Amino acid sequence: MPACPTGATLMDRPDGYGIVSRTLHWLMAALLAWQFTSAAARQFLPDTPVEEFFWFSHTSLGFLLFILVLVRGAWALANARRRPDSGYIARLGHLILYAFMVAIPTLSLLRAYGRGRGYSPFGIEIFSRRDNEIESLVELGNTWHGLLGWTLLALAAGHVVMAFVHRKPDGQPVLSYMTKGK
Ligand code: HEM
Ligand code: HEM
Repeated sequence: MPACPTGATLMDRPDGYGIVSRTLHWLMAALLAWQFTSAAARQFLPDTPVEEFFWFSHTSLGFLLFILVLVRGAWALANARRRPDSGYIARLGHLILYAFMVAIPTLSLLRAYGRGRGYSPFGIEIFSRRDNEIESLVELGNTWHGLLGWTLLALAAGHVVMAFVHRKPDGQPVLSYMTKGK
C-alpha cells in the first residue's frame, strides 16, 4: 500500500483514515465553517460590514464545496472496504451528511441556472446569461437551500458530539481514526 514519508497511508485502513480522506475531511470542515459563518452573517447581520466581509465568497466557495464533495464521495467509494468500521448507524449518519453536502449546493446551482443571470464562481463561467427565468428552479432553491443548509449545521453538530462519545474497540474515542490515521 502506498505510504507517505510520515508512515501515514494514502488509502484508508480499518485502523484509521488515510491522508487523502483526512485532508478532504478537515479541509471541507474548515470551508463549511466559513460557509456557515457567511450564511449566519447574511441572516443575522444584513447590510453590515460583517455581512459584506463574509458573504462575498458564499457562491464561489459553495461551488468549490460541491466539487470537493464529489471527489470525496468517489474516494470514499474507492476505500469503502478499507475504512474503519464504526457500525451501520455511523455509516448511515455519514451517508446522510453526504446527501446534504451534495443536495445543498445542487439546489443553489439549479436556482442560479433558473435565474438566468449568469453564474461565474471564481470568475469561471458555469452558466451564461439568458433572457428568461425558470421560476420552478428558482422556487425550489428558495424553498430548500437555506433550510437544508441550517439542517446540515445541526447534523454536523451531532456528528462532532458522536466523534467524542463513540468509542473504538480499544476504548478510545473514534476521533483518532480521523486525526492520527492509523
Ligand atoms: C455546501 C455548500 C453550501 C452551504 C452549506 C450553504 C448554506 C447556506 C445557508 C445556511 C443559507 C441561508 C442563509 C440565510 O438564512 O439567510 C444560504 C443562503 C444562500 N446561499 Fe448557500 N450554501 C452553500 C452553497 C451555495 C452555492 C453553491 C450558492 C450559489 C450557487 C449559494 C447561494 C446562496 C444564496 C444566493 C443564498 C441566499 C438566499 C437563500 O437563503 O437561499 N449557496 N446558503
Ligand atoms: C470539529 C469537527 C469535526 C470532527 C471532530 C469530526 C470527526 C470525525 C470523525 C472522528 C470521523 C470518523 C468517524 C468514524 O469513522 O467512526 C468523521 C468522519 C466523517 N465526518 Fe467528520 N468531523 C467534524 C466535522 C465534520 C463536518 C463539518 C462534516 C460535514 C458536514 C463531517 C462529515 C464527515 C463524514 C461524511 C465522515 C465519514 C468519513 C468521510 O467520508 O470523510 N465531519 N468525522
